[in-house]
Formats: sequence, C-alpha cells, structure tokens
Amino acid sequence: MALREILRMGDGRLLRVAQPVPESMFGSAGMNELIGDLLETMKAAVGAGIAAPQIGVDLRVVIFGGTGKNARYPDAPEIPFTVLCNPLLEPLDNELSAGWEGCLSVPGLRGEVPRYERLRYSGRDAAGAEFVCVVDGFHARVVQHEVDHLDGVLYPRRVEDMTKFGFTDVLFPTL
Ligand code: NI
Repeated sequence: MALREILRMGDGRLLRVAQPVPESMFGSAGMNELIGDLLETMKAAVGAGIAAPQIGVDLRVVIFGGTGKNARYPDAPEIPFTVLCNPLLEPLDNELSAGWEGCLSVPGLRGEVPRYERLRYSGRDAAGAEFVCVVDGFHARVVQHEVDHLDGVLYPRRVEDMTKFGFTDVLFPTL
C-alpha cells in the first residue's frame, strides 16, 4: 500500500471517461495494490470515498465507506466498505434530493448537489464477483458522486444554485 497524490480540479486526468477493468485484472496483484493505495489515500484524507481517476489511474474502480463515522459528514449513516468496479447505476424513481458534497479533488469547498434519492447499483468486486445493492439517502449520494468521477464529472458541474457553492469555512463558519 502506498499513499498516493490526489489530483486536483484542473488536472485533465480528472476529466477522462475511465476505461473498464479488464477481466484479467480481477483478483490480480495489480488490483490488490490499487485497492490498497486507494484505501490508504482515502483514509489519510478522511474521505467518504475515492475513485481511481483521482490518483491518476484510468480505470472504472471506486471505493467508499468502511471508515465508521466520517468526520466530514458527522450526521451521515455509516456505509460498509465497498469496492465497486465497472459499475452500473439505475435510479429506482425520479425523486431527487439536494445535499451538500465535498470532494478530495476540490479541497476546501462544498456545494449543494441534487442526486437521485434511491438507486440500484451493480458491478464487480476486486475478485470479479458480481453484486447488486439497493440504497438510498447518503449512501446513494456517495455512489453517484464516486461513479461520476469515472465519467470525468466533478460535483461543481452539478451545482444548480451557485449561492450554495463556496468555501466550507465561509459557508459554515461555526464548523
Ligand atoms: Ni470526489
């Protein structure tokens, strides 16, 4: 495991549509190394999740959860640690809810972003096993945020009310 540099907004590598994980990579040493690096980097930065493109790896891999209560999102429910490769997201209905998001690639800022409230996601774990999960609320938000990274989308693009986008310490001076 190694602590990796987190790319910041403005780096073109964050804007790529990432490549699917090839069959040969599931269960490999290379996959285990990538997951280890993502986990160490996410924990060091106290993130709720991280996507491979954020450390410059052009693959459709995200990890999230497993960190207990997140200091950056103290009111959010705990999310189990998940490795999600080649994901497919399917909203269960059209209900959107607005919530605050931050991103390790956009340090110091927060924005209010509409996301689907309920969705089903499917994909493969690090060993290649297929799985399906039905989630809502904060868990659904985190999945949508992380999977957006795989399509080169950073959350500021999804902020609709620009009065609700700014520096965390200015928006929330009591935090
Ligand atoms: Ni992010």
